Amino acid sequence: MGAQKTFYLETFGCQMNVHDSEKVIGTLEQQGYARVESEAEADLILYNTCSIRDKAEQKVFHRLNDYKALYQKGKRFAVLGCVAQQEGERIFERAPFVSLVSGSASYRRLPEMLVQIEQGDTRVTGLDDRQTEETFETEFTFRSNPHRGYITIIEGCDKFCAYCVVPYTRGKERSRRSESVLAEARRMAGSGYTEVQLLGQNVNSWRDPGGKRSFAELLAAVGEVPGIRRVRFTTSHPRDFTRDIVEAIDEVPALCDHVHLPVQSGSSRVLRLMQREYTREQYLERIAWIKGARRTISMTTDIIVGFPGETPEDFEQTITLLEAVQYDGVFAFKYSPRPNTPALSMPDSVPEEEKSRRLQLLLDRQREIQRANYERHLGQILEAMVEGVNPARGQVVGRTSQNKTLNFTTAQPIAPAPGAYLPVRVTKTFPNSLLGEAVA
Ligand code: SAH
Ligand code: SF4
Ligand code: F3S
Repeated sequence: MGAQKTFYLETFGCQMNVHDSEKVIGTLEQQGYARVESEAEADLILYNTCSIRDKAEQKVFHRLNDYKALYQKGKRFAVLGCVAQQEGERIFERAPFVSLVSGSASYRRLPEMLVQIEQGDTRVTGLDDRQTEETFETEFTFRSNPHRGYITIIEGCDKFCAYCVVPYTRGKERSRRSESVLAEARRMAGSGYTEVQLLGQNVNSWRDPGGKRSFAELLAAVGEVPGIRRVRFTTSHPRDFTRDIVEAIDEVPALCDHVHLPVQSGSSRVLRLMQREYTREQYLERIAWIKGARRTISMTTDIIVGFPGETPEDFEQTITLLEAVQYDGVFAFKYSPRPNTPALSMPDSVPEEEKSRRLQLLLDRQREIQRANYERHLGQILEAMVEGVNPARGQVVGRTSQNKTLNFTTAQPIAPAPGAYLPVRVTKTFPNSLLGEAVA
């Protein structure tokens, strides 16, 4: 009997990619592969890649370059994910030692693709071009965290925002049946999970293929699964974000006090150029629903600075929007021209230094907003889910329902186990985290 086949997998990019990798790992193990922790030990090396911005894509090609040397030892290489779908067979030209290229919409076919490379085929592809109607569901998902896990509810994207590669890399939008989502949530709860995070590039456009539930009803149903204490969902799209989502959060205790609602720009003119299909006013209306909830719901967002044609006045509108909303967190990016996207044909008009200047200004302003927001927690008792310990600081690392980091100390000599929920009094605040003491 030969030695067992081994693989090494490295993941770049968003939560969808992280979760896809969990499914890929499960699939590989099911196919008789054992996971190893270094490229050196592995027969098969896989990269699950991201191409959302130029830097992310460059990182992948640099990494592939680094591993050219390993190829001589007779290993096989696979490129998965968004760069794989975007670049397709061009990857074989740029990195001839790669023998498998597959986008996420083709992972259902991984078992057969693995057999092909094992048989010595050196150019195996799983490329989709927005044809697939099916979702990738597997019962073999490998989850390393035993308390908190992802569940995909919708794959692909049909929004075609002018700057974004995702509709080209992840294929057509396709929703998973609510029964299937709920069955997975129940299975997870049965094996000890207390937190689930529902995933999709645009979870609000999820439509139950069985026609049974709306997205808000799905949220509520997952929140009512016995054993599930926290439900998160990401990402929401402002155009499809409906008021009943806020009502569900008010009514179902397990739904977390947090909405991530990417705005991208505070200027209606730029939003139109971005093809986001909402105005500043419509966005602020949704924010007003969220602020009107009985619970205090934390809000976070994504912003792009320096989109083609963004004037200083447009940018100023993004700053005034930050002030109006008072987000608890902002992921801000400099616009990066991407292949295939409509914005690629618009002149990338904002110079790099000006993009950097706007980004810094925005982050500085946001830091002050967050400092004030986080200060409001001083003296409050919040429930923290334990994530681990920071031995250097002698602190337990926890997370609140609002998704804020809450580090704390306890009177007990032994730290609480990961996955435990504890009440913690906040004793000090920072712009990005809270510090506290467990309440006896
Ligand atoms: N589906 C999510 C976002 C997915 S990508 C949504 O619609 O909000 C995550 C974030 O990356 C986006 O919200 C956007 O802020 C940023 N992003 C996407 N394409 C980009 C590009 N070409 N340049 C800079 N930032 C980009
Ligand atoms: Fe990209 Fe827009 Fe789809 Fe989000 S909604 S993934 S930004 S195209
Ligand atoms: Fe990157 Fe693809 Fe996610 S481009 S951000 S890995 S959807």
